[in-house]
Amino acid sequence: MLGPPGAGKGTQAQLLAEWLRIPHVASGDPFRENLRNETALGLQAKQYTDTGELVPDAVTIAMVAERLSRRDCGNGVLLDGFPRTIRQAEALDEMLAERGRAINLVPYIRVRDETLLERLAGRWTCRECEAAYHGVFKPPQRGGICDECGGEIYQRPDDTPETQKHRIEVYFEQTSPLIAYYRNRSLLAEIDGEQTIEVVQQDLRAAIEAVRQSREKGQTV
Ligand code: AP5
Repeated sequence: MLGPPGAGKGTQAQLLAEWLRIPHVASGDPFRENLRNETALGLQAKQYTDTGELVPDAVTIAMVAERLSRRDCGNGVLLDGFPRTIRQAEALDEMLAERGRAINLVPYIRVRDETLLERLAGRWTCRECEAAYHGVFKPPQRGGICDECGGEIYQRPDDTPETQKHRIEVYFEQTSPLIAYYRNRSLLAEIDGEQTIEVVQQDLRAAIEAVRQSREKGQTV
């Protein structure tokens, strides 16, 4: 899943992963989990995540490589927030090639800057399962409690107005070149992320179905 901070990658990836029955691997989640557990990785990552900078490639790539080597990834994964630099994209290609796998599709959720800030300002996140809520667009059914797991809902420390703006700038500098990288390889599916959560999800599923159908046709012709 490619897109700027606040585009709805996490919201959509959680729904898509359930539908596809594959793990949702979000690169931001393990950094926050390690920080909660006060591990060396968590403390190392904190200086970057708190200010909205990207965690260095070597650290991020090693973390994702470890996650992809686990047994539950055998039937595929939905990656959210990784890769975020060209170096990470190249490392992912290498990791997949070693396993005889490849990327099927890169959904790119396109959203205007004003919408991003509005979404990030109203976001609340579950401390346990990382599900995203929004004060207006997606409030939890019971105030302060996650619908999915009953965990406590909090505001992420990197959701301050200054850090949100900086994360968007970092996205345009370091991550947006990946749009051309994947478009040139005919892997990109552009999705209009300004629509409601339900309609964005329908468009994503339609894009995945289209890839499945063209692969099936390719195999039978
Ligand atoms: P990460 O956790 O990946 O954050 P992000 O990319 O900045 O993305 P967000 O989680 O902020 O947004 P999202 O697109 O998932 O939107 P969401 O679904 O929550 O990364 C955090 C940090 O970790 C980085 O800054 C970096 O330091 C580090 N990091 C992570 N990966 C890295 C990597 N690969 N390399 C280096 N460093 C890395 O939705 C936002 C809000 O909008 C929610 O409130 C939601 O309810 C609402 N919403 C969603 N969709 C809609 C809709 N269609 N209509 C109305 N509201 C909506």
